[in-house]
Amino acid sequence: MRHLLSTKDLSRAEAVAILDVAEDMADVAGREVKKLPTLRGKTVVNLFFEDSTRTRISFEAAAKRLSADVINFSAKGSSVSKGESLKDTAQTLAAMGADAVVVRHQASGAPSVLAQSGWIDAGIVNAGDGTHEHPTQALLDAFTIRRRLHGTSARGRDLDGVTVTIVGDILHSRVARSNVWLLTTLGAHVHLVAPATLVPLGIGDWPVTVGYDLDAAIAARPDVVMMLRIQGERMHAAFFPNAREYARQWGLDDERLERLPAASLVMHPGPMNRGLEISAKAADSPQSTVLEQVANGVSIRMAVLYLLLAGTVEL
Ligand code: CP
Repeated sequence: MRHLLSTKDLSRAEAVAILDVAEDMADVAGREVKKLPTLRGKTVVNLFFEDSTRTRISFEAAAKRLSADVINFSAKGSSVSKGESLKDTAQTLAAMGADAVVVRHQASGAPSVLAQSGWIDAGIVNAGDGTHEHPTQALLDAFTIRRRLHGTSARGRDLDGVTVTIVGDILHSRVARSNVWLLTTLGAHVHLVAPATLVPLGIGDWPVTVGYDLDAAIAARPDVVMMLRIQGERMHAAFFPNAREYARQWGLDDERLERLPAASLVMHPGPMNRGLEISAKAADSPQSTVLEQVANGVSIRMAVLYLLLAGTVEL
């Protein structure tokens, strides 16, 4: 694998192969000695132009568990504030010897520009670009669903027949987009539920069904309910729903949690707005996979860095 820019690019076999390598990496996490020497001598640069807790730290943990050196770059406090461009910033870091660059950027398409421009020779991983994609989030979500459904016999399996309802701010969500492409490629049925103002134009071309009523979606007994964060920072005031009204109509509150089948998973990519899109009880319930998603993120990111930089599995 040369770059990971989008889940839309992955075939079912490729996606299953990445999830299977992540299973091997999760086995490493369970060992007494958690480090592998695989990427010794390689350097991974985390190039973050937008804030992050989970993605940046788990890429750092993943690289270190594979014995790579890690350089962390945040736009805040850097020469970006003096007007330095993406090209010059990336080339500066590449001159320090980057083998892989993990990019988060507010502009949709920035990681693809880095991958295709020839400005640097490193493998590029998209760690979230604007409202476009967040492929490693979708991979860790698929990995979490597969593990919860199939336990220790998850290897080699896809998500054929699994029903996933994704709820909330679809318009601004790169997590939703990456999950739609990946989960449907893996055979899941994806149903999107959102206020009409938070449904993107062109959704008719997506391989999903769309509804506006969360209660009807819960009555359909989905295997997974994935709640999305309301992204106030990307929203024009005119689109920002009244918080109380939003929670009442589209929030996974305690009462809706009661109506969900006990076996249905409750997912959220984080960070959560507790009391808005998800209640504290739902977020902390045994059905919630929120912290498993975070832990699985390290295994997925180990797998992606391994496939990018060691590449012993043909994809
Ligand atoms: N899910 C996710 O991308 O979280 P961070 O913004 O904290 O990385």
